[in-house]
Amino acid sequence: MNDIVTTLARSYDETPYPGRAYAHTHPDYMAVLATLLGLNPPPVACCRVLEIGCASGANLMPMALSLPGASFVGIDISPRQIAEGQRTIDALGLTNIMLLVRDLQEVGDELGQFDYIIAHGVYSWAPAPVRDRLMALTKRCLAPNGIAYVSYNTYPGWRVLGAIRDLVLYTVRDVEAPEDRARLALALLDMLAESDSEHANAFNSFIAAYAKRFRSMLERLGPLSHAFLLHDTLEVVNEPVYFAQFAAHAAQHGLQYLSETEFPMVLPLGLKPETVDAIRSFSRSGIDLEQYMDFLRGRQFRQTLLCHDHLKIRRTLRPERLRGMAVAALMHPESQPVDLAGETPVVFRNLHDIAFTVTAPITKAALLYLAEASPQAVPFETLVVEAQHRAADAGAPLTDVEPSALARRLGGDLLRAFATATTLVSFHLHPPAVATHPGNYPKATALARLEAQTGVEVTNLYHDVLQLDPFDRFLLQLLDGNRDRAAIVREAVRAIAAGAVQFDSESSVSCSPADLEAAIEQRLCWFARVALLIA
Ligand SMILES: C[S@@+](CC[C@H](N)C(=O)[O-])C[C@H]1O[C@@H](n2cnc3c(N)ncnc32)[C@H](O)[C@@H]1O
Repeated sequence: MNDIVTTLARSYDETPYPGRAYAHTHPDYMAVLATLLGLNPPPVACCRVLEIGCASGANLMPMALSLPGASFVGIDISPRQIAEGQRTIDALGLTNIMLLVRDLQEVGDELGQFDYIIAHGVYSWAPAPVRDRLMALTKRCLAPNGIAYVSYNTYPGWRVLGAIRDLVLYTVRDVEAPEDRARLALALLDMLAESDSEHANAFNSFIAAYAKRFRSMLERLGPLSHAFLLHDTLEVVNEPVYFAQFAAHAAQHGLQYLSETEFPMVLPLGLKPETVDAIRSFSRSGIDLEQYMDFLRGRQFRQTLLCHDHLKIRRTLRPERLRGMAVAALMHPESQPVDLAGETPVVFRNLHDIAFTVTAPITKAALLYLAEASPQAVPFETLVVEAQHRAADAGAPLTDVEPSALARRLGGDLLRAFATATTLVSFHLHPPAVATHPGNYPKATALARLEAQTGVEVTNLYHDVLQLDPFDRFLLQLLDGNRDRAAIVREAVRAIAAGAVQFDSESSVSCSPADLEAAIEQRLCWFARVALLIA
């Protein structure tokens, strides 16, 4: 290990990173994007996954639990984080995951090849020679059809964040203790966020707006905000790059840019047509075009997928590539009843209030079907048949239409939704077995129950992170599949009587057993809705 890597190892040992699941690093998500872009990625169920800089393995563990036929290796330079991760692996009894204390620069061929490689939060937090070794390692260890995920800070957005980092580093320059550095940094951010005034110049207003956004993100992290601040902002190395530089670096190593995981970001959405025409005229390649979009959007972070440079990417999305995938979506029509018989436009909205307008009866019927099936993902072929029946029953002239024609129309609309916002619809090659209702013996994963014991964040079966209040955390821990309603309510009553938990931490009034039973039922249904329960 060289000096800077030793310093980093010490820093992460001193203050472990607040690890968590990142939905877009899941092999199923990478495989779906690769398939949509015309590649033939390795099957997810039995894939081999490497995470470089895995910290305590919090991102890999939910994957290992949900893909028992796959195998996972995580490496990190920090012995303390790896030891913490190993304790969790032992507690969960996982046998398909291995965490190793290892400098990425020292990995040879001994680990073999991997179908999916993840490096989240490592690239721009490592010095240039280590970044180069990271690319070389990715190239060497990636299976021929494999996909790699690398996230990094980018310019131009980081020019402003860099100014904030410089200011904070300047202020804490003589402060040694990590806790004191974090506290001072937070106080400084508070000051910056409030520094805007009607007399402020444009730069000051800009910085204040950024500081405000940054502060609210830290507030969401709660007690983990200090660790996040110390590493993501104040760490000894933080070298953002332009996207075009990153893509060129990958190309030097025989890797090519596949896509951003936040797929709509690759499209010139939200820009005026004249602006799009102008940047197209400046652009000599798709990478150029995306770089210009980053300039215009002030992009500060990217999560990029790479593959070997010999693979042929087909960038036009085609409905036939949805064959064999499952689809999940939760959108509700703005008004009822929905005209399923004709082509009247209907606006559907998801929980993030993102609108999606649909005219085709097959798609309207499919979105209603998916909302009822949510959070389960429905095989695309099943969806076509069910939506055809539903729309035909409502009077749409679809009875004699070839399923392949309907699949093209529906698939085209679903891809349009995916290209609008990744939260509108999700596709899966290996969908999780989620329960749509709590059932008599509700069951959450062993990992979610463990997470609920130790923190406010839990990982659902789609590899998304949810924040729970104290009562939900308590309740989730009871859901091991062996307790029926009576047992769950009994334990809740006992815990509330003992003062171990309050039903509503905002209110001092405790509810009656009947109210509690109803409230528990409502929470269990919510757990099912947000994919925390196993089918
Ligand atoms: C910002 S943290 C990100 C952790 C995790 N990937 C996540 O996003 O939650 C960076 C991690 O990379 C590890 N790391 C830094 N340099 C490394 C190297 N040369 N080899 C292996 N791991 C390294 C650190 O110890 C740390 O755990």
